[in-house]
Amino acid sequence: MRTVLGIETSCDETAAAVVIEGRQVISNIIASQMEFHRPYGGVVPEIASRQHLEAMADVVACAVAETGFDGLDGIAVTYGPGLVGALLVGLSYAKALSLALDVPLVGVHHIEGHLFSTVFEYGDWDYPALALIVSGGHTDLFYLPAALTYERLGHTRDDAAGEAYDKTARRLGLGYPGGPILDRLAQTGRAEAAPLVYRPPLIPDAPYDFSFSGLKTAVLRYIREQQIVPLPEGLTRDAILAQAPDNIRHLAASFQQAVVNTLVGVLERAIVAYRPRVVLTGGGVVCNSALRQALAELAERMGVGIRIPHPKYTTDNAAMIAAAGYAHLVRGERHNWSLEPAPSLRL
Ligand code: KG4
Ligand code: ZN
Repeated sequence: MRTVLGIETSCDETAAAVVIEGRQVISNIIASQMEFHRPYGGVVPEIASRQHLEAMADVVACAVAETGFDGLDGIAVTYGPGLVGALLVGLSYAKALSLALDVPLVGVHHIEGHLFSTVFEYGDWDYPALALIVSGGHTDLFYLPAALTYERLGHTRDDAAGEAYDKTARRLGLGYPGGPILDRLAQTGRAEAAPLVYRPPLIPDAPYDFSFSGLKTAVLRYIREQQIVPLPEGLTRDAILAQAPDNIRHLAASFQQAVVNTLVGVLERAIVAYRPRVVLTGGGVVCNSALRQALAELAERMGVGIRIPHPKYTTDNAAMIAAAGYAHLVRGERHNWSLEPAPSLRL
């Protein structure tokens, strides 16, 4: 087992990648469907499935351009969690390829993929480890006592952090997705100029759970009280960056500070309790400039290793799926044709 093709279609990216020995990325092709979903302010499941169908064959052909299909030793595919129709496209394609090429197939949990997104830049990690995955669909904290062993310590009780970004952005007329634009605006605002009535929640008996609904309410109240007027729909990113008034910039900074404090607060509590050798991070929100800085500072202060992957590996991609799949394939793990999409799969 050497060369693995990864396929990822759980949400709105059609992705395929070829990775050698779980580490060396030969190709990492991502066809984003963002422009098709943008008019609706979020991912539309039916559109996602159709776009995956349109893009799948070309994306895989690009990914294997160097190795050829004959150079593949195994296929790893995301089989959950995610949108069922979207997962089905990648899974069906992967099964068919596996059958045609007579190479083994393994299904990968999408979040396990995110955990492996640090391996390309940092290599293998030590145990015990903690992992914080923060995306549009997930905000999860895991404890990893040993290889391929995951204990979920906490998760979000309501919105994922990325979802909180997206919803806040929509309220302010900043378009979709909200994370990147709020991140940029926050860099030009002052958090203390837009004080939110909000404290990171400590949920009784669930010290590692997250919640962002209180923050959402605080933002809404602030918008109403301060009579903040959203930007008109349909502005380009550059126009938003040029035209956004100061009150929106300050609110972006204040909101971002609250999200970062919530995430880092829970992680710090877990580091104290579990004393990991290293903290792995991943998911689209880990592209965030303030979060990256806060995570690095926390790790330094706590004397623990931290892995913050390059943005091209933090958002959804298939290289991470190939890397995670490789770890299972080398152990002889296989799935057969009965593998089905599992929209609510737990790790
Ligand atoms: O991991 P990902 O690509 O897809 C999911 O599995 O959800 O994450 C997408 C999420 C979106 O909610 C997006 O707004 C957020 O990541 N995001 C960010 C940034 N870049 C992307 N959030 C905050 N700051 C960013 N720079
Ligand atoms: Zn993801």
